[in-house]
Amino acid sequence: MKIGVIFLALALAAIPAAGQTPVYLDSSADIEDRIDDVMKRMTLEEKIAMIHAQSKFSSPGVKRLGIPEIWTTDGPHGIRPEVFWDEWNQAGWTNDSCVAFPALTCLAATWNEEMSLLYGKSIGEEARYRKKDMLLGPGVNIYRTPLNGRNFEYMGEDPYLAATMVVPYVKGVQSNGVAACVKHYALNNNEINRHTSNVIVDDRALYEIYLPAFKAAVIDGGAWSIMGSYNLYRDQHGCHNQYLLNDILKGEWGFDGVVVSDWGGTHDTDEAITNGLDMEFGTHTDGLSKGNKNEYDNYHLASPYLAKIKAGETGTDELDDKVRRVLRLAFRTVMDKDRPFGSMVSEAHYEAARKIGDEGIVLLKNDGDILPIKAGNGCKILAVGENAIKMMTVGGGSSSLKVQHEISPLEGLEAAFEGIAEVKYVRGYVGDVTGEYNGVTTGQSLADNRSEEELIAEAVDAARDADYVIFFGGLNKSHHQDCENFDRKELGLPYGQDKVIEALAAVNGNLIVVNISGNAVAMPWIDKVPAVVQAWFLGSEAGNSIADILSGSVNPSGKLPFTFPVALEDSPAHSIGDYPGTKREDMNIWDIEYKEGIFVGYRWFENKKIKPLFAFGHGLSYTDFSYGKATADSRTVSDGGTVKISVDVTNTGERAGKEVVQLYISDLKSALPRPEKELKGFRKIELAPGETSTVTFTVDMEDLSYFDPEKHEWIAEPGKFKALIGSASDDIRTEVNFELK
Ligand code: BGC
Repeated sequence: MKIGVIFLALALAAIPAAGQTPVYLDSSADIEDRIDDVMKRMTLEEKIAMIHAQSKFSSPGVKRLGIPEIWTTDGPHGIRPEVFWDEWNQAGWTNDSCVAFPALTCLAATWNEEMSLLYGKSIGEEARYRKKDMLLGPGVNIYRTPLNGRNFEYMGEDPYLAATMVVPYVKGVQSNGVAACVKHYALNNNEINRHTSNVIVDDRALYEIYLPAFKAAVIDGGAWSIMGSYNLYRDQHGCHNQYLLNDILKGEWGFDGVVVSDWGGTHDTDEAITNGLDMEFGTHTDGLSKGNKNEYDNYHLASPYLAKIKAGETGTDELDDKVRRVLRLAFRTVMDKDRPFGSMVSEAHYEAARKIGDEGIVLLKNDGDILPIKAGNGCKILAVGENAIKMMTVGGGSSSLKVQHEISPLEGLEAAFEGIAEVKYVRGYVGDVTGEYNGVTTGQSLADNRSEEELIAEAVDAARDADYVIFFGGLNKSHHQDCENFDRKELGLPYGQDKVIEALAAVNGNLIVVNISGNAVAMPWIDKVPAVVQAWFLGSEAGNSIADILSGSVNPSGKLPFTFPVALEDSPAHSIGDYPGTKREDMNIWDIEYKEGIFVGYRWFENKKIKPLFAFGHGLSYTDFSYGKATADSRTVSDGGTVKISVDVTNTGERAGKEVVQLYISDLKSALPRPEKELKGFRKIELAPGETSTVTFTVDMEDLSYFDPEKHEWIAEPGKFKALIGSASDDIRTEVNFELK
């Protein structure tokens, strides 16, 4: 009797009195208490519904309880146009055109955390205004091969650079009450066979190279969601992978957010239940329009899961954990009453896009200070090449956008030199004249039926009497260029561009090549061309940013986030490494072994003494910087301590400029092989002519450590270290030794 009374009292306590706000709707209550409260109220079916999609990009929430739908969007360079409920195709809205920000390779090339915060905050505002709760980005897969079609969506080859740059982006996005969904976790380093590559990589490379950016996004950035990758690792797909998701992400790093499947990345119900996936998206589509049943019910984490629970084949512990995570996401985003409202296509966003572009463009070569352009009376500038006029925001896969405007390089030049110089344009080559992605069209008509010979002859003719010839080429967003789902087929430039460049170089010594790409390209003509600019995919303000650099209204300060090899065979994945792997005899799985281990990017080139075309961290300025002598505040550091390394940097040129001061650490003797040196610090500083600034880096144990795969821990080994400071990985200006006791 007494027990019955207690039960009744407890039951009554759980039901709010009429007019009383339930705990889960009380925004002043602790999120975990709110989650506990909803969990008690939800039915099994409602829980199942919450963990898979209801449309191409949304999940349903719980209508009965007033828990809203969760809406996701690509990402990572702008907000994707609205698509039909159940299709990839754009829905044809007329109010969903966005600002395209520069691609993430460009952001990485700024080497400026402030730019990353600005980027995250701005794109988060666009997402928020468009009522999105999760942005599918940023991407931080490491640049392993220059052939990867999706490198432009990532932050380069170095784990320290990517880890440092991803954190402010995540924080900026999430300051809007929009979750960043960091992708593609993990080891998604090629697009060819992206659903069937099984990566074989040693633990040391996994922990030292491929995971740090994800770890930083989770631990330092506090990311609220992570997207699993398409590929396999240890024979399990990334979206339901025991080692990556349960052991490392949720175990070692304590991730409390949501693991979202990549669209169509879920393959197995049992693994999806047990191996760390929380929300399933994109598995099948077109059910609502073509089938007689809601296709989303057939998702692995839908009816099949429910049936297993009902049959007693599996319990509900995993389900409850998934639902708690989705609820946590809802409370952090769509149910956060205090989140800002966001803004879209604002002047501030265009300014941000231009600023990031300005800081990310890399001046690769500038012999005879041919740049900036010295325009004046009667100066004639000739622009050549398809990339001077081609819109680059449409295409490339899921990052494709519908923009309010995109300034082409030619338009940027014309605006910058209006009234100062005459700007003429000739085509030079014909690349990809199509311009459509999922129903969004560029509206450009680029067709040109002239032969290669005719186009080159026209360009050469026009180049003869120009003061400057600027060739705009590189890659584009079409298949086998910089594009999702395809890798490139070669390092060389497509569409016969090398021939055009050679022909122009033969008639005009003032040739500037502007390479627009998210990847390294071969430059067999490099000795014949005095100036080369790496201009990335720069989004809405592309032409303005490029003109800012060419005209000199902005002093270039970008640095390469990855190495440019001379030849493909020089890069590790195509030399010792394995690419695209070996197909198993009996099944459609490609085992791809990362035989180069930790020697990715500059770590490989330096170790093998291979001279790259342009080194990691390289980038010139229109001014010069001199470096003083590096000093250490102590020559010995004890275990657990830190050492401060300082250097004076002076602008010795005649104009203001920004320099990225780079700190590399070299372990002089260690039990395991280590790279010659590794990036462990960088700082972007701005200096007026003649100005000097002291830059100080604090080096801690983490910076000295390597991952010991036997012990499964990070080890800082006592012994001698060298701190190297410079302007690029191949331009070290000063060094100082210290010892770990
Ligand atoms: C891509 C993801 C993207 C998703 C949704 C997938 O094909 O790999 O990066 O976020 O589609 O568009």
